[in-house]
Amino acid sequence: MKTRTTTGTGLLTLVLAMVWLLPFAAEANQDQALALMKRNQCNKCHTIKAVGFQKDPTLKDDEGDEEEAKDDKEAPDLSGVGKKHDADWMELFLQKREKIKGRKHTRRFKGTPEELTLLTKWLETLKN
Ligand code: HEC
Repeated sequence: MKTRTTTGTGLLTLVLAMVWLLPFAAEANQDQALALMKRNQCNKCHTIKAVGFQKDPTLKDDEGDEEEAKDDKEAPDLSGVGKKHDADWMELFLQKREKIKGRKHTRRFKGTPEELTLLTKWLETLKN
């Protein structure tokens, strides 16, 4: 049957592609992590200079929110965040369940738990 052969070949190609792509998984994670950071507007406040991640000036909308305007300026560059915190700690911090100097993070992460894990695991690798 023609369809079945096609499906079989398709699957085989997929498996081969995955095996072949394995060494690039780290980079793929970076792409996904940065996409998540954009989607969650982390780039309103944070930069990651080590990977060329810039703030997005179009996200500035500080009128009437002095607290957030202050946070924009105080937010650290995350290029070396993996030297300070591990992924588990960052997961808690981004859910406002962990503090820095008695202060919780300004934003609670709004994505899925899987996205949070992917993001924090990648942030943990940043040791510049
Ligand atoms: C409204 C501004 C703002 C947004 C948006 C924001 N952050 Fe932050 N973030 C801060 C500030 C300010 C700090 C510093 C907290 C402190 O030291 O008290 C911080 C600290 C952190 C830290 C700890 C850094 C360190 O050096 O200890 C991590 C990790 C972090 N943010 C990740 C994220 C991620 C991931 C996102 C997006 C999901 C995000 N932040 C969105 C303002 C922001």
